Amino acid sequence: MNKISTDIFSVGVNDFGTILFEELWPLNKGISYNSYLIVDEKIALIDSVEYPFAEETIENIHNVIGDRDIDYLIVNHMEPDHSSSIKKMKELYPNLVVVGNKKTLSMLDGFYKITDNLLEVNDGYNLSLGNKNLVFYLTPMLHWPETMMTYCVEEKVIFSGDAFGSYGAVSGEGDNVDPEDDKYKDEILRYYSNIVGKYALPVAKALSKLSHIDIEKICSTHGPAWLNYDSVKKIINLYDHLSRYEAEKGVVIVYGTMYGNTELAAFRIKEKCEKAGVKVVIHKLTPNNLSYVLRDIFKYDTIIIGSPTYNMSVFPFVANMMSAIKLRGVINRKYSYFGSYAWAGGAAKKVIEFGDSMKWNLISQPVAFKQTFQYSGCDEEINNLCNNIILSVK
Ligand code: FEO
Repeated sequence: MNKISTDIFSVGVNDFGTILFEELWPLNKGISYNSYLIVDEKIALIDSVEYPFAEETIENIHNVIGDRDIDYLIVNHMEPDHSSSIKKMKELYPNLVVVGNKKTLSMLDGFYKITDNLLEVNDGYNLSLGNKNLVFYLTPMLHWPETMMTYCVEEKVIFSGDAFGSYGAVSGEGDNVDPEDDKYKDEILRYYSNIVGKYALPVAKALSKLSHIDIEKICSTHGPAWLNYDSVKKIINLYDHLSRYEAEKGVVIVYGTMYGNTELAAFRIKEKCEKAGVKVVIHKLTPNNLSYVLRDIFKYDTIIIGSPTYNMSVFPFVANMMSAIKLRGVINRKYSYFGSYAWAGGAAKKVIEFGDSMKWNLISQPVAFKQTFQYSGCDEEINNLCNNIILSVK
């Protein structure tokens, strides 16, 4: 349990047991479900935790307020990782008033049959706790329709729901966490690209709304809280940059392979580009690494897709990746294709159709080689591809 300020306490938990967040995204460093307690004449709990962790959170709450009651539970987001313990909280604190907007209240009924002791708020609603005031800002589709943020006026703290969050457990990080530190940045990017990335426009609208508020601290529902001016500025800038799909200079070589022929070409391209001083990351697509691939597609500006032709089309993992990129509407990228075919091509055409549909910039002609990489005589085409990548990225 950490202090955010004299009267605000972090009472959430870490989850080290879940292997896949949303049963999709790997959690190799755990995840936190953050919940915050504001202690005033009235007491408010901001967001809750996933059901299996309710007892631990309740113990954290007891450690702060003993036997005092909680008056309000503010629900910024209804996804069950934050809402599935609300019923338990209501049993323990029977007078608890659950606070949300119209869409929140409808979901409370739909998910949990909770229909009593509710307070419906709208954009700009002010709730007084005594000495402190909470103002609610609706931020729909960041990343669900009911999502909102809660601002504590006197403390200048915004409780942002999933926005500005990160994978990874927390452990008393304190006041000086830097979102640009690689230790945090990659997991912030991975969380954004996996969970929030489809909703660039709602992110931009929320940032515009927040730009009118004096924010000194940001408390998200996942990952570290941003507790100093520098980190607040940096995480907001990062979200601004991501919502515009802006990227660093660098190459993501991402490929599927069956028998290693496309893979050999992938490593040849990597070697040549790195020799020329280009930043390269390489991913062999597997059922489990889309999460990391998406992170790097949001991070870097050039995507080189490798795929063997499979049933006249792209390899299935490549198709899945292209579908995930399309769903997230990633724009402003440069790209090309390489890959093998056994008797007839097809993958190159599919990748080019995909790139065209995304309005990506084709920086070099696709290289499709017959059967093996080493015996196909495609060295010159691969060299051209590498030269064009190097020219484009440097
Ligand atoms: Fe952390 Fe969208 O739930």
